[in-house]
Amino acid sequence: MVKISEILKISPKKQNIVTKGWIKTFRGNRFISINDGSTINNLQCVIDFNSQNQELLKKLTTGTSIKIEGVLVKSIGKGQSIEVMVKKLFIYGESDPENFPIQPKKHSLEFLREKAHLRIRTSTFSSIMRIRSSLSFAIHKFFNDKGFFHVHTPIITGIDAEGAGEMFRVSALEFNKSNFNKKGELKSSNDFFGKETHLTVSGQLEAETLAMGLGNVYTFGPTFRAENSNTSRHLAEFWMIEPEMAFCDLNGNMDLSEEFIKYILKYILLNCIEDLNFLNQRFLNEEKSKPKNERSEMNLIEKINFVIKNKFIRINYDEAIKILKSSKPNKKKKFKFIISEWGTDLQSEHERYLVEKHFKSPVIIYDYPSKIKAFYMRQNDDEKTVRAMDVLFPGIGEIAGGSQREERLEKLQKRMKEMKIDSDELWWYLDLRRFGTVPHSGFGLGFERLILFATGMNNIRDVIPYPRTPQNASF
Ligand code: 4AD
Ligand code: MG
Repeated sequence: MVKISEILKISPKKQNIVTKGWIKTFRGNRFISINDGSTINNLQCVIDFNSQNQELLKKLTTGTSIKIEGVLVKSIGKGQSIEVMVKKLFIYGESDPENFPIQPKKHSLEFLREKAHLRIRTSTFSSIMRIRSSLSFAIHKFFNDKGFFHVHTPIITGIDAEGAGEMFRVSALEFNKSNFNKKGELKSSNDFFGKETHLTVSGQLEAETLAMGLGNVYTFGPTFRAENSNTSRHLAEFWMIEPEMAFCDLNGNMDLSEEFIKYILKYILLNCIEDLNFLNQRFLNEEKSKPKNERSEMNLIEKINFVIKNKFIRINYDEAIKILKSSKPNKKKKFKFIISEWGTDLQSEHERYLVEKHFKSPVIIYDYPSKIKAFYMRQNDDEKTVRAMDVLFPGIGEIAGGSQREERLEKLQKRMKEMKIDSDELWWYLDLRRFGTVPHSGFGLGFERLILFATGMNNIRDVIPYPRTPQNASF
């Protein structure tokens, strides 16, 4: 059996063809359009209605799975260059035209989220998932070609890597009275691991240990956050790519993030252009429904090319605050969060203003106030800022965040104490600073945020097969 993506490349000379897939449409009792997921394009199959079993033909409806044997010929009709003249037809599974929700018409994304187990049969979702797969491959290729080692860090952990306390508890205890003490706390010492454990929010701290022997490493795994952010940019379960480099400072880190993002976007332009063209058309249709002044100046392909071709702007937090303070939406109180003083955290509206309105380019902001960043970031001599960096993208805001790590034992211990980070639990992390410490850096890129950008979709729930969000863990 040959995949439809391959069949469509063949020059037709009446070759015998066997193909399998799902019916997209059946028109005029003659034209069956089938898709097998290998490409956005369907294969047109033509049947001679009268020569076929009439009972069988009644079963050819959208969603039915079939096998077709026939010969490949040049198509005289519009819309395709080749087609299959059907000789034999076999049905694997009938569909049900009354109840099959994926009909050949436009469905809203909200409706399709309710039917997440079937939405992969639509052109939009199969395109997104093929692009997701290509991006994933490109990520491994990029790091492998650069000599990074792929490492696997634990999913179940006793630490809070970001120190933000937004974690899901992992427990094997029954939630009954006997497992709670008098204060109503779970008796974690009786639990499977003999202590309190959670799903990881980041593999970074363990990746740091591995970089301190392997040099350059990266993780690519699921991460979990119990933050109650019901936005179009947040998932409770998402995938993160986290490179970590020994002997690398913040500048090297910024360089890598930029090179990395450009490489993987270029990869899909070269390898997924049919899916991108389809999503581009979708993007343009969506834009049409927006008021003129809110429409994007570039189409999807132009946006991707723009990122690949232009140098990311790099500014420090001070400069970012100055720009934001004197910006129109700040002065006119159009921002939800008004920037009034140095030290406030940037919200996505501020990040998007800098990227979309002010610079019209991806931006990397670095040297953030230590108060708003995690404990492990390297402290600057000003004693106010740390060597943090956030990569900001149009339509998204923060797509990646990272830092140079604090490699000096005393400075790290002091900061952990100030931030009330449990150093007993992190004794091994401190050991790295005791035995051959080196300057090192890394970042984390949110995979789904990158896919949002690459596909022109608006909601993060539409770029992962089964989104996990507050009040929703269906499928
Ligand atoms: O900025 P974050 O929290 O950084 C870290 O976790 C570091 N340990 C990374 C490192 O230095 N190795 O998260 C990194 C990225 C964000 O920039 C964002 O793209 C994504 O992960 N992200 C989310 N994506 C979807 N849903 C969420 N709830 C996300 N939270 C973070
Ligand atoms: Mg961040």
